[in-house]
Amino acid sequence: MTVSSRFLRLGVNIDHVATIRNARGGRFPDPVRAAHLAVSAGADGITAHLREDRRHISDDDIARLTREIDKPLNLEMAATQEMLDIALAHLPHACCIVPEKREERTTEGGLDILREERRLAAYVAPLRDAGCRVSIFIAPDRAQIEAAVRIKAPVIELHTGAYCDHHAQGHMAERDAELVRLAEMAAFAHSLGLEVHAGHGLTYDTVTPIARLPEVAELNIGHFLIGEAIFTGLTAAIAEMRRLMDEARL
Ligand code: PXP
Repeated sequence: MTVSSRFLRLGVNIDHVATIRNARGGRFPDPVRAAHLAVSAGADGITAHLREDRRHISDDDIARLTREIDKPLNLEMAATQEMLDIALAHLPHACCIVPEKREERTTEGGLDILREERRLAAYVAPLRDAGCRVSIFIAPDRAQIEAAVRIKAPVIELHTGAYCDHHAQGHMAERDAELVRLAEMAAFAHSLGLEVHAGHGLTYDTVTPIARLPEVAELNIGHFLIGEAIFTGLTAAIAEMRRLMDEARL
């Protein structure tokens, strides 16, 4: 995919279609059907997180997404040997390395590259060599961005969760401070040659300032869109998010 400062890609995360399916077992609703619909509604790619405990997306979902969806698949994964083997077997367009704890409800913070830099450098290498765009999910932090360059990741995804949480709790001063941090770190990462993505917790209310950051090439959005789809349908929810992103970039 080419990147221009005007165009901002939307990756739709379909994990929570699988969450609803798994609440009852069985096959419905089917996250791969949601992926097809997301693509027709204007998604530039599909994002799915294969968690260690398989609480939503399953191995079979990843196999079907790889086979059936002709837009880029972004596989979110913990830096484990099991996930490396799966990624190398399926060769998705992109692999986003995220921290993962079984007890967390969602991915609660960014990866601490500094804590395990050598291991992560060795982890990223075979994925890169196999042709996957490797991105590292990190907080907007200068030291983490510099470490991402050292481990030779071509892409970072900036965690927007803190910014969105402050907004939801009405802590506007903290929200604005986090937005400044995201803006500065997006520019810093871009100046070092990294491609910059952003995501986590984004909604119609919070997407515009993030979509305005000129260095950000891709947003990955899931939970809010799947929730909104209950009321308006997935096509309309994605179309509205796409409209807000495009308007922000004008
Ligand atoms: N980006 C990354 C790296 C994530 O881990 C997630 C959540 O799986 C998202 C984006 C999407 O976050 P949300 O579902 O809150 O929109």
